[in-house]
Amino acid sequence: MQQLLRIAVLLWLGLATSQVRAQFSTDYEAKALRSVYEARNLELSFPTPQERERVIKAGLYDPDNVVPLDVDVYYTHGDRVPSIFVTIPRFVKGVPYSLAYVTNEQRGNGTVLRAYPSYDWHQSHGADCNGLTSVYRTQIDECGRMWILDSGEIDFVQHCAPQLYALDLASGGVVHHYRLPQGTYKPGFSRFVTPTINLDAHNCDVSHVYMADSIGSGLVVYDVNAQRSWRIENKFTYPHPDFGTFTVAGESFELWDGTVGLTLTPHGLAPRMLYFHSLSSDWQMTLPLEALNNATNWRDKDTASALEQFVLLGKRGSQCVGSAMSETGTLFCGLVQPASILAWNIRQPYTQQNLALLIEDEQRLQFPSGIKIVRNYEGKEEFWVLSNRLQKAFGTGLNFKEINFRIQKCGVHELLNGSNCN
Ligand SMILES: *[C@@H]1O[C@H](CO)[C@@H](O)[C@H](O)[C@H]1NC(C)=O
Ligand SMILES: *[C@@H]1O[C@H](CO)[C@@H](O)[C@H](O)[C@H]1NC(C)=O
Ligand SMILES: *[C@@H]1O[C@H](CO)[C@@H](O)[C@H](O)[C@H]1NC(C)=O
Repeated sequence: MQQLLRIAVLLWLGLATSQVRAQFSTDYEAKALRSVYEARNLELSFPTPQERERVIKAGLYDPDNVVPLDVDVYYTHGDRVPSIFVTIPRFVKGVPYSLAYVTNEQRGNGTVLRAYPSYDWHQSHGADCNGLTSVYRTQIDECGRMWILDSGEIDFVQHCAPQLYALDLASGGVVHHYRLPQGTYKPGFSRFVTPTINLDAHNCDVSHVYMADSIGSGLVVYDVNAQRSWRIENKFTYPHPDFGTFTVAGESFELWDGTVGLTLTPHGLAPRMLYFHSLSSDWQMTLPLEALNNATNWRDKDTASALEQFVLLGKRGSQCVGSAMSETGTLFCGLVQPASILAWNIRQPYTQQNLALLIEDEQRLQFPSGIKIVRNYEGKEEFWVLSNRLQKAFGTGLNFKEINFRIQKCGVHELLNGSNCN
């Protein structure tokens, strides 16, 4: 982890977000991430051409409204070529399916995507809650299961309760399913965007799943064995007015989102903590799992509950979107301004001199919303990021003559070490 220090990169802070500038030290040469997928627009496949026509006519598919948000990756044992999944949230109507995988087929706007686990899982657009309504992020665990958090709403119409599915990637079968009970979400207002699972160090047991409600500005803890969940909401899970405006590549838009990023201290480091941040904020927060997992602490549903357990680690000066933790305890996040990948060793104070700006790429990292660290076929950790130019999608509109959506990767070691990403 001294590598992080050696890559001494300064994040130069102005007073306002718009003044944040990166200042690279001269001994650090930024390497580009390796591109895995690039698309002008999502190329979605359909069971039949007739079905494609039908959904377009019915207003259930608008090619201009499909924007990917998250990436997830799985290497089946020994296989060098991973399966790559993307989420396509139903921010608005016109998204025919909300979770897909990347195929090998190329078409005009990019590589073809296919619905996952199948097209019918997405077909009801909220009419049938035994399926997927809208997925923002997923997490694939080391036991070959994909944990899918479904917000249950489309454009803030709450069709279904938010729910969590775990699918076995080998068979596609459901291995776990949980619907959030009333009181843990705000119908028509909540937007559940990120699941994080607490997987046992030695077996495939998951004790808790933590779920971020970004627009509802809270988080939900799900105790898997007890089949119980509770909501946590206080001033630290909220957005901050200084960071409600996002500026990416010179274009600004408003987002007013609370808790979005959730990561856990790796096994082997104590005490284990939840690291979390709000999207519209520059605060990096943490909270011990011991406090989080104790339902008694949150029984009163009070914004003052266990407040003394929350720690503001520091302020980074700009918003982070996606985040992920490496096995060695480096927290990565996708920084908005400058468009970059930020890394921090959790053993050090969260101060500017300890925040390493690993990759800055104004062209290829516009809105880094999906970040994952996965183990590859050799057992090495890889960093993956999906960027989607959300400033345009939510602002003036995407320019479909350009590459808008990208998936890039780098070995975690190479990324921290400053060497080539291949
Ligand atoms: C590419 O995307 C644009 C914008 O949504 C769409 O109008 C066009 O039909 C797509 N091209 C192909 C070949 O699918
Ligand atoms: C849970 O928290 C309560 C206080 O809210 C405390 O009295 C109790 O001892 C805690 N339980 C455990 C197992 O730590
Ligand atoms: C990166 O790794 C190489 C080979 O392991 C090593 O020689 C070099 O010193 C490392 N550089 C840094 C900055 O850690």
